[in-house]
Parts: sequence; structure tokens; C-alpha cells
Amino acid sequence: CGIVGYVGPLDSIDVLMGGLGRLEYRGYDSAGVAVIDGQGALHTRKRAGKLAVLSGDLAAGNLPESHTGIGHTRWATHGGPTDANAHPHLGDDGRLALIHNGIIENFAAIKAELVEQGETFRSETDTEVAAVLLGREYRATGDLRAAFRRVVGRFEGAFTLLAVHQDEPGLVVGARRNSPLVIGLGDGENFLGSDVAAFVEHTRRALAIGQDQMVAITPSAVEITDFSGTPVEAEPFEVSWDASAAEKGGWSSFMAKEISEEPEAVAKTILGRVDDRGTVTIPELDGLDELFLDIDRIVVIACGTASYAGAVGKYAIEKWAKVPVDVELSHEFRYREPVITPRTLVISISQSGETMDTLMAVKFARESGARTVSICNTQGATIPRESDAVVYTHAGPEVAVASTKAFVAQITALYLLALHVARVRGALSAEVIAEQAAELQAIPDKIAAVLENNDTIEQLAHWMADTRAVLFLGRHVGFPIAMEGALKLKELAYIHAEGFAAGELKHGPIALIEPGQPVFVVVPSPRGAQTIHSKVVSNIEEIRARGARIIAIAEEGDVAVLPSADEVIRIPLAGPLFEPLLSVVPLQVFAMALASAKGLDVDQPRNLAKSVTVE
Ligand code: G6P
Repeated sequence: CGIVGYVGPLDSIDVLMGGLGRLEYRGYDSAGVAVIDGQGALHTRKRAGKLAVLSGDLAAGNLPESHTGIGHTRWATHGGPTDANAHPHLGDDGRLALIHNGIIENFAAIKAELVEQGETFRSETDTEVAAVLLGREYRATGDLRAAFRRVVGRFEGAFTLLAVHQDEPGLVVGARRNSPLVIGLGDGENFLGSDVAAFVEHTRRALAIGQDQMVAITPSAVEITDFSGTPVEAEPFEVSWDASAAEKGGWSSFMAKEISEEPEAVAKTILGRVDDRGTVTIPELDGLDELFLDIDRIVVIACGTASYAGAVGKYAIEKWAKVPVDVELSHEFRYREPVITPRTLVISISQSGETMDTLMAVKFARESGARTVSICNTQGATIPRESDAVVYTHAGPEVAVASTKAFVAQITALYLLALHVARVRGALSAEVIAEQAAELQAIPDKIAAVLENNDTIEQLAHWMADTRAVLFLGRHVGFPIAMEGALKLKELAYIHAEGFAAGELKHGPIALIEPGQPVFVVVPSPRGAQTIHSKVVSNIEEIRARGARIIAIAEEGDVAVLPSADEVIRIPLAGPLFEPLLSVVPLQVFAMALASAKGLDVDQPRNLAKSVTVE
């Protein structure tokens, strides 16, 4: 969910709706606002559906001017996406409003207690329980800060909560445990948001607040305390991008824009990490060599697209740094009994830095004695704060729900990290590191070249708009790319798609092949390990013989694929490990174009959210 809070001279509805527009990628099942007007009256509007539905309501101009308010855009967990379940929720006397991100795990017990005391509820949400409880505590204390402190202390689980009370205009209170919340500092105004996108239009000065902390903002002050009320210091930071970076510009979708930004995302991620002699040094890891020396194993944890970046990274880390690597989904890693020792390094990957499954796995890894490094694209996010070190990707804000530019930036960061570790451990010579770094530095121009040749893939997508299932095959680093190609198609076009290791096909999935079945094949370079190339060509022959329609992603000049492929999408020559950064691009474009051809919203696919802050 996305959360925004405001106090200051501007009309709060404008600030809240602007912020929610920028946060909508966090959830778009329903949206709502609550504001306090000049007479000290609370007004709430909330609607199921995308933010546009709420905007339509507000455009009717039925809310007075206000200078204090909170707003919410929802990804449903408890209770379906209805008007009643939308946030804000009101206290039982209607005098306070509260919004929430996360899950209050002990809400049922508290609700039962309140029902026993005669309270009634209008929604099925855990949030309304918090609102009702806060209303009761307010009547007991007459002080919003104090009442809020009492309430948050009772909750278990993960939450960000913001509240306003009509008797205390000019004040928004907030609290966080495991869910995101950042503060935007203005002059005579202050902001709260799930991430900096909420307020970057107004200020780039921000404060990150820690776990189990509360904040109260007024136009002139920001007070941060722990849950017992003791003041704490927060970490100030400057947002490194401006509001225009999170705008669509002239593009048809955020996704189209973000794919076009891939060359820059890779280039910026490399910047400052490779010197003139080709030495790879990640400045953020300065003085932390021991993180990489005293280890015998690396576990990479992530979810979704980030996990496929991790799966690509495994090949590079093992080849260059010569440390064994396991790649695991965060939620699977967290809830079994993995063998973790002080010699285990856990690398987490998360664009948002907020994915709850990954956050919990990082915390678990630390508690189990592992060292932790995170790869993250978002400043002020929680996962980097919970890790021993962070390597930022510099892809810029990613708004489209399906990840694209962050994915190539994550692979880039993993490769830089692998070379950094290889240097620290003395696993590669300076010459080899420099050669690989030069390959990486050549990637942005090569991605740009791939992007110039999108016509064939877009045409294909239009022809295939009625396709019911698509398979993707890859081998070696092409395997995770096949998985990512399939994920993109599922996310965006709602088409059943699966990625397989090409060698595994004959062990079962080949039964799926029937005449006309489209199969994308990520073909490794014939210049690399010859055996892999020829084996993939054989795999193509096997499915060709059974009538599959083959679309090969192959490098320029690879003629071996011509006799058996129905279509060949060309990518420029690159070292074998670097091909994923090129071959994924046509697959992203394909999924986007096919979704558009079906008339779907590519930026906000159904049922999804960009940052999933619940487990
Ligand atoms: C969600 C998004 C995916 C994303 C995954 C991991 O499921 O819809 O696009 O890959 O989370 O997100 P993260 O922010 O941790 O990279």
C-alpha cells in the first residue's frame, strides 16, 4: 500500500492526491483521503478502484480547503477491495481517521475484546480495529501522541500507521514496525510517505526513521521517538532524483519509458565503481573486506524478478570470485532450517528495499549469524538499513509494476560485486578483472542497439495476441532469462507462460509441445562454450520436429539457428556472461507489446503491486 501525510500551507488534497499518484504503483485496489478543514471538521472520501475513481469524486469539489491530511492507496489483504474496506478508517466517534500498510497479526484478539465492550465495525479490515482502539485511547488521554503510543505498543506484525484527529489540526502522527515510512522536510510544512516519491515534488530533503519508531509532524516541527516516547535521532538524506524522473514524459507507459532507460540504468550503476585501469572497487564496501574473506558460501535471496537477477549473478560470482552460491526465494529460505554459519554471506536483492518476504529473510539471516549485503534501488528503504552493507543500483525510480530497468541494474551490481569480491579474495588477476569490467562498460551501448531493433518483436506480439500459452527455454545464464521472460508475460499479458532449462525439456515438459506451440529460445553465443551452443541448437531441433513455432534470441552472425527457427531476434556480440543483459530486453518488449495489443494496462497489471510489504 502507499501512504502519504501532510501538514502545511498548501491545500492538503492537492498534496495528498499528487503523492498518491506517485505511490499508486504500491497498490491500486482502492484509495482514500481524510483531511481536517479550517473549522476543525474531519472529512473522508474513499473509493474502490484505481486512484482515478477517487479523483473523479474529489473533482466534484465537495471538500473544503484543508491543511492537514492523510491519504492511502491500497493493495487488499484483509477484506476485498470495496469502498467500505478502503482506507482511511474512522474511530468509533468519527473524530479521527487512520490509514495503515501491513498486517496487524493480533487484530482478531483485539477486535474480539472490543466487540465484547460493545464496539461495532463497518469493515472487515484489521485497520478499523486500530482506528477504533485509537478513538478509545484518545478519549482516555485527550492527546493524540499519547493515545497513538498506547495503541501501537499493543500491535504485533508489520505496520505503518498514520492518524489525524479533528481536535488536533496541524498534526499528523505516524508509526512503523517493519513497514516503510519516510519523512519529507519542508519549510513551514512537513510530509510523511511510504517512500520519497510521495513528496519529491515538494522537497528532496528526507529523514529515514528506524524500526519501532513514531513520528509527529506539525508545520514547523518533526518529533521522532521510540514506542515508549523517548526521543531518537533520525538519519537525514537527500533524494538523488527529482520529480520529473518519476513522470511518464512523452511515453505511452512508464514501462516503455523504463525500458528505454536501461542503457542509463546500467551505466549509472557502473559509474564510480571501475577506475581507468579497470580495477573494480565498490566505494560503499570500503573497509569491509572481511565480509568477503571469512566466508565459505554465499546465499542470494530475493523475490520475483530480483530472484532471477540473483540466479544470473550466481554464474558470475562462482566463476570470478570462486565462492559457492545458492540462490533462494526469500520466503522459502526464511521458513525452513537452512544451515547458516558466521562464514555464510547472504546477499539480498530488492528494487524497493521493502519486500517483506526479503526483509524477514535478511533479519533471520542476521539473527542466525550470517553477514548480510543488500542490493537495492531505493534510498532510505528498510532492507539496506537492516544489512551490514548496501550496494545501490542507480536505475532511478521504477514506477511500472513489472520490473525492467531495475533488473538489468541488479545484474550489473551483482557483476560488479562479483569482481570486487574476486579482487579482495585474489581469485582473479587484475587483467581479467579489467577485461570483464570493460565488457560490462560496453553493455549500455549494446542495449541501446537492441532497443533500436524492436520492430520484429513488436510485430510478433501483435500476431500472438490470442496465444494461450508460451514457453521459454534457456541454458546456463540464459535459463534465468527464460524464467524472467515467462514471468513478464504472466504479469503483463495474463498468459500462461513457463521458462525451462533447455536441457530439462526432454525430461518432461517436451510433452507440452504440439504443432504451433510458440517457444522462445535464448540461444547462447557460438563463440562461448561451443558445447552449450550446439546443445541448445539440438534442443531446438527436438521441439521443431514436434511442430513448435520457434522464436530464437541469438547473437548477430549465429547462422546455426537459421534452419530451424521461425523467427530470429538478433542481439549484439557480448561475452557469454553478459548476454543476459541483452537477451532479456526483447522479452520485456514482447510482454509489454502483447499486453498492449490485448488492451491491458501495462503499468498496473491486475492483482499485483510493486512493493509487496506483507508476507
Ligand atoms: C513484486 C513485484 C515484482 C518484483 C518483486 C520483488 O512481486 O510485482 O515486480 O520483482 O515484488 O520486488 P523487489 O522490490 O524486492 O525487487
